[in-house]
Amino acid sequence: MLSERIGVEGIDWPSALTAHAHLLQTARDALWQRKSDPAEYLGWIDVPEDTESLRQVLRYREAHAWVEDLVVLGIGGSALGAQAVGAALGRGPVRLHFVDNVEPEPILVLLRTLDPRKTLVNVISKSGSTAETMAAFLVFRQWLEQNLADWKKHLVITTDPARGILRSYAQAEGLTTFAIPPSVGGRFSVTCPVGTLSLAFAGIDLEGLLAGARKANEQAKAALEHNLPAQTALIQHLFSQKGKNIVVFMPYSTRLRYLPDWFVQLHDESLGKMHNRAGQEVRTGTTAVRAIGTTDQHAQVQLFREGPRDKLINMVRFLNPSEDLKIPAVRGLEALDYLFGKSFFQLLDAEAKATAHALAKAQQPNYTLTLDKLDAYHLGWLLQHLMWQTAFLGELWNINAFDQPGVELGKEYTYALMGRKGWEALAQELKAEGVG
Ligand code: PA5
Repeated sequence: MLSERIGVEGIDWPSALTAHAHLLQTARDALWQRKSDPAEYLGWIDVPEDTESLRQVLRYREAHAWVEDLVVLGIGGSALGAQAVGAALGRGPVRLHFVDNVEPEPILVLLRTLDPRKTLVNVISKSGSTAETMAAFLVFRQWLEQNLADWKKHLVITTDPARGILRSYAQAEGLTTFAIPPSVGGRFSVTCPVGTLSLAFAGIDLEGLLAGARKANEQAKAALEHNLPAQTALIQHLFSQKGKNIVVFMPYSTRLRYLPDWFVQLHDESLGKMHNRAGQEVRTGTTAVRAIGTTDQHAQVQLFREGPRDKLINMVRFLNPSEDLKIPAVRGLEALDYLFGKSFFQLLDAEAKATAHALAKAQQPNYTLTLDKLDAYHLGWLLQHLMWQTAFLGELWNINAFDQPGVELGKEYTYALMGRKGWEALAQELKAEGVG
């Protein structure tokens, strides 16, 4: 599924693969060997094999036929995956809403439009304590309680199986819960109930999604010539060594408009690290940037082609449309006859190829992941492939791709500023520094 355009800017691909074979094999073997250790956070590898968890999700969905609106309260890895897949393949009739910010106005607009009797609220937090999600939870819980005698049936919690405020609250109140496996981190959790529960309500073919993810697992285990995530990780590694500090992720699909958001989080939070596994300061990472083809050909491609040579561009395109639209001929508009009788998909395809070639001509390295079509199977493959690519890069750079220590300080400052118990000293410190 990896197309041809990778040999630009002096990288001789077959030789590069041979030269790095040992490194990649070591990375592959290390990841597969460590996966059963929960402390390594590699549980996402096995999640697509977990058919029992999928059955529970599907049973729950079947028992809730009354739901017309499903509100997901979650942030980062607890929201972005389902949002991306739901937007790409959602068939309704249930409408999905994602509350992943604490700006009051959009939340109030949403609350005013929802009918509580037909609304299900899914609170998702692995830690069970993220301030944004907890604030939204408190508001939606109260809204349900004020409006419904049986409000508990309208609330479902997805969290750690044993730990955190949400778990103990759900137990005390007898709320329905789904478990996030302890060894699965937020940004790697889309194929577990974090993603599958809301996607079941959106009518997504979850069997297909998980089958695609399992296919990516097979490839990640394969010998290097068939191991696509090892190959794309190597491409990213080699270009980062050549000063390409920016990775543009650019699917040619409006349906995939939220996928770059998911990728940006996966890539940046996993790979931007100050220290390596040996504790040395290394400051790794490349900055992922969102773009959508063709739309951003008219916004960003000018910069990608003629701006600084600091980027690697990863396009995603499909070989077949799910449906197509023919462009009609119109008398009097013969100046447009190059379009007459062609299809929109032909135009989309030509634009993707043309842009890739124009970038290559300007020595702007790019490669394309070419998938048969946009369906659950191929999207499941793509998600799992990108998770593997991230894990491989973590190995190549000798960093822990599964933690996020850089996010913590901001959270602690927030607790102090909001007056959380136990954070008084930090609040004083911030005040002395003029923050408050
Ligand atoms: O990838 C991650 O680990 C993070 O983005 C988390 O998903 C995010 O911070 C939300 O955390 P939690 O699910 O604990 O509320």
